[in-house]
Amino acid sequence: MIKPEKYPGVSINKKGILHFGGADVVRLAEKFGTPLYVMDERIVRDNCKAFRKEFGARYEGKVLVVYATKALSSLAVLRIVADEGLGADASSVGEIHGALRAGFAADKIYFHGNFKKREDLEYALKNHIGRIVIDSREEAELLNSVARRAGKKAAVLLRITPGIEAHTHHMIQTGKIDTKFGVPLAGGEAFHMVKETLQKPHLNFMGFHCHIGSQILDMKPYRLTVEHAVEFMAKIKKQLGIAVREINLGGGFAVRYNSRQRLITKQQAATAIAGTLTSLLKKQGLPFPQLVIEPGRSIVAPAGITLYAVGPVKEIPGVRNYVSVDGGMSDNPRPALYGAEYEALIANRAAAPAGRKYRICGRHCENDILFDNIPLPAPRYGDILAVFTTGAYNYSMSSNYNRFPRPAIVMLSKGKPRLIVERETLDDLYDKDI
Ligand code: LLP
Repeated sequence: MIKPEKYPGVSINKKGILHFGGADVVRLAEKFGTPLYVMDERIVRDNCKAFRKEFGARYEGKVLVVYATKALSSLAVLRIVADEGLGADASSVGEIHGALRAGFAADKIYFHGNFKKREDLEYALKNHIGRIVIDSREEAELLNSVARRAGKKAAVLLRITPGIEAHTHHMIQTGKIDTKFGVPLAGGEAFHMVKETLQKPHLNFMGFHCHIGSQILDMKPYRLTVEHAVEFMAKIKKQLGIAVREINLGGGFAVRYNSRQRLITKQQAATAIAGTLTSLLKKQGLPFPQLVIEPGRSIVAPAGITLYAVGPVKEIPGVRNYVSVDGGMSDNPRPALYGAEYEALIANRAAAPAGRKYRICGRHCENDILFDNIPLPAPRYGDILAVFTTGAYNYSMSSNYNRFPRPAIVMLSKGKPRLIVERETLDDLYDKDI
């Protein structure tokens, strides 16, 4: 059974209408059309504040919380996050561009990626981006030469892969050895890269980065990562005489996609990461580097829902019940890509008891299954279906497949809606065609 009260910002009024962020979502659907992404400003702000507070309280050095903009990089969202004092993690020049436009201080922007091209590095240096996270030996060479030409010294972190298997979908696991990202700790490869980086006159080695995966429900892999990281720092100190100035442990904190899930609180995450780091550094007698974390999903996913209009309902007795909605894999590709699960309600009859289970399908011309086994009160054409926790990796991974225009995004502030991204028009779809 879905328990709507488990989702932040969600309530059901006396008439059985679903409210989110203080707004009647059926009215939002009427006013702005469907499909519609709806975000709540308060939840975004609360999450930013909670990360800063909980990690700050458990670490003796400086903490910088950096928002992974890949989760959702609409300018309005970025402005809110910047206003909360976070930095920005960008994995492309496009994301850097958005972060700069939204007002993030350039020195709080982190540039990631396994293949940053020469022009990307030039762009980053020209725009005084705070950290470039080097992913490979080739990149270290290239950045050193780009920085030499620009007459600069680039502040860098080295991305390492600690060889940790986090229990998450295999496609979004990045800390283990078998990954395209980073330089393995194992076999001394990362250590060797640190030495090489220190010898490059135009690179300023600040420390290292690792990101072990996404939607991680268990803190053990984080604790293990911290252990590996501190061992690595101790080795660098002992053998090279260098104190690591910064350690960036990435993001990956899980959010609620179903009512049964047991979630890790931000306090628990901070205890596992900042707390473990504090005690291990003390044990080793190492100075406290700046601690950076990069949450993306856990800042925006719970702050978003998607509204769809229900279309035809097809019941195949003894087989399955299908419901079509007016969106699909173009506005949420996660079920198709990762088998991701979500929970949903009929927003205009949210208090009605659920009956049968339905397979909710999108409009795309293939087996576009969005959400399966969703218990609903018998859906009717024209109902509004609300899907929870869609604030991350939905809009940012959306496409125009089948030439469907992307939905609008509405931001709620104290229950008042404002359009922050316009719905695409039919002409937008062909604007770049020559
Ligand atoms: N830092 C780095 C270097 C990352 O690669 C990522 C995510 C993050 C931070 C933020 O992770 P988060 O806190 O959002 O879990 N498209 C997938 C998610 C891929 C995440 C990739 N990296 C999905 O829809 O689940």
